[in-house]
Amino acid sequence: MRLDKFLSEMGIGTRSEVKKLLKSQKVTVNGETITKPETKIDTDKDIVCYNNKQLVYEKYEYYMFHKPAGCVSATEDNIHKTVMDYITDTVHDDLFPVGRLDIDTEGLLLITNDGALAHNLLSPAKHVAKTYYAKIDGMVTDEDVNLFKKGVDIGEEKPTKPAELTILKSKPISEIELTITEGKFHQVKRMFEAVGKRVTYLKRISMGPLVLPDDLKTGEYRKLTTEEINLLINN
Ligand code: URA
Repeated sequence: MRLDKFLSEMGIGTRSEVKKLLKSQKVTVNGETITKPETKIDTDKDIVCYNNKQLVYEKYEYYMFHKPAGCVSATEDNIHKTVMDYITDTVHDDLFPVGRLDIDTEGLLLITNDGALAHNLLSPAKHVAKTYYAKIDGMVTDEDVNLFKKGVDIGEEKPTKPAELTILKSKPISEIELTITEGKFHQVKRMFEAVGKRVTYLKRISMGPLVLPDDLKTGEYRKLTTEEINLLINN
């Protein structure tokens, strides 16, 4: 990678600011002062210092985002705000949301530029568990719990995989938690439609080993901890 690109990716400044810094002899590569912006470096091996401090290159970034309603899970959209509009101070510019939540769904969304991890988490073969909290227009009953355990017909080739439904409140407006291991389009809403009920509020509260923390408010995001990243990678 070019040295000026590396430095600007590390958040040191824009490409033109970085050029000036290089001229002022503030950057070393393996102990040698380098002034040429086009110098090629190997991010795995070379030790780059700015003002005598080593810049450790992180190829991948991982953030946990609490998606609010009203934005789409995409990197670009002509009409709506996207989840990426909320993620403002990243080092790299190639981050994307892992999977989709509907525009009116809130909750946990992983944002990264690690394509292999995203692929693994979304792979149907991996059966990554996702838990949702929902408010349901209708009385959710033990019969629904049993139906969801067996799998319901949502108009796909096969019924849904066994899902764990926990009733928090069985009232005319019920509250539930549902854990599914698939990610079919509008899956939770369609599962409740299949038993004659309607989801009126939906929030994802966990995905694999990641749990949405209570203190991460809607619209906020934070870096994953090293422990969380390791749990995800070894999931
Ligand atoms: N199921 C849905 O119906 N919507 C979502 O956003 C996620 C799961």
